[in-house]
Amino acid sequence: MPDLNPLYLTPRIEPVARSVLDEGELLRQLVDGLGSPLNIVLPDLLEANVDAFRESYRDHRLRGRVYFAHKANRSAALLRRLAATEAGVDVASLAELQHALGAGFGPERIMATGPKNREFLWLAARTGVIVNADSLGELTDLAAMVAEHRLRRVRVMVRLSGFASQGVQVISRRSRFGVPAGDLGDVLDLLEKHREELEPVGVAYHLDTIGWPEKAIALEGCLAALEECRARGLEVRSVDIGGGFGVNYLADGAQWERYTSELAQAVLGRREPMTWNGHGYGLRNEGGTLRGVLGLYPSYRPVSGAGYLDQLLGAPAPALRRPLGSLLLDTMYELDIEPGRALLDQCGLVLARVLDVRDSLVRLDCNARDVSLEEHGVLMDPLVVSAGEPGPPGAFYLLGNLCLEADLITRRQVFLPVTPRPGDLLAFVNTAGYFMDFSATQALHQPIGRKVAVYRDGGAWRWCLDEQYWPVHPRAEES
Ligand SMILES: Cc1ncc(COP(=O)(O)O)c(C=O)c1O
Repeated sequence: MPDLNPLYLTPRIEPVARSVLDEGELLRQLVDGLGSPLNIVLPDLLEANVDAFRESYRDHRLRGRVYFAHKANRSAALLRRLAATEAGVDVASLAELQHALGAGFGPERIMATGPKNREFLWLAARTGVIVNADSLGELTDLAAMVAEHRLRRVRVMVRLSGFASQGVQVISRRSRFGVPAGDLGDVLDLLEKHREELEPVGVAYHLDTIGWPEKAIALEGCLAALEECRARGLEVRSVDIGGGFGVNYLADGAQWERYTSELAQAVLGRREPMTWNGHGYGLRNEGGTLRGVLGLYPSYRPVSGAGYLDQLLGAPAPALRRPLGSLLLDTMYELDIEPGRALLDQCGLVLARVLDVRDSLVRLDCNARDVSLEEHGVLMDPLVVSAGEPGPPGAFYLLGNLCLEADLITRRQVFLPVTPRPGDLLAFVNTAGYFMDFSATQALHQPIGRKVAVYRDGGAWRWCLDEQYWPVHPRAEES
């Protein structure tokens, strides 16, 4: 008996991604030939995402660079396509730096972030990329390396954390990254001491939160830090506000409202369970009272990506009470950003073959690590790509291919408008940012999904293995 009131979480799918999903025969052939799961990246969509951020820069009359946070996806195709735009890249490991150099980014468009080992620091210094230093120790090591190997002066930014709010107290999360903002004096002493080796260009923060009040405090704190740098004679020019602009995953905010309130009812035992073993996503029932915090990514986020940047720049600085964008404009500092997830909005999907459908259990040829929705707590329904007659609507649990109780693709019951059949594909859309390869492992010797780039050429969709993609496609007569 179909549920007459299904709790759909319909993903937001823009026309280009939709038209790829309409190519059912191509998608089936790809999975037949390359296996399940299969990761599809859509490099053509990147430029529009970069442009959306640029538009926000234009609206606020700001200069600076958009650096793609590479960690969000390992794809070569995406990186090579981005290299053909004006964007830069934020690399957080030695291998990411090598990848970026090989994809066509010159050192002036690369920023090395996060904690770095000596090899990473060395290649960054040797190639002359900007080093966004995570600690005082890193700056000291870098200066010593530059002196010892007689390298050119290295451009450095310093990541700060732990900004104090003035006036209204905003809780600032503890971070294990960056130098405490209160230790800026020590940073400046060090930079003065190593003038020959290090060229300070600015300060940075990255906050792992979507709450903009905390970010407004950090941005204002960075502007104050830049003034201190200038007072000490350092010619800094930019502030890097990291990533965390977010993505809107769902088409309909009302579905999200309904889903989350029904989940609360289910946790309280006032309706039938909506999750495997009554999982509450952080909520719990304590003697009939709802406790805990809903630990889910707010999948419906009408203000996200470039819109979020716009909102932050329009927000008043907590102490100076003027819009942060105007403060940046007045001081003529450049604004650098490092979006990962937001630049990959709509740029990829994961396909998985249905192995078995029994009662309400759908077993897939992929595991939870291949489509790591749960770790990030993002909820959205997969699409059924079927060649045959669709079955009736239903509610299902999606199980992975690992011999582990915990291997559920998602712990929630998923409502689908049709019953999938063995051999059908489920398409998890908008999964380029962190979902498709960030956590994938070869547990149980199950293969990691291959990656293909699907791109438009002469009015048709074409594909190639991710590593074969370059932004110059084979000429029509050659292919
Ligand atoms: C330093 C830094 N910059 C940028 C990002 C990208 O964040 P997002 O993908 O949320 O935009 C991260 C993510 O962890 C980060 O650590």
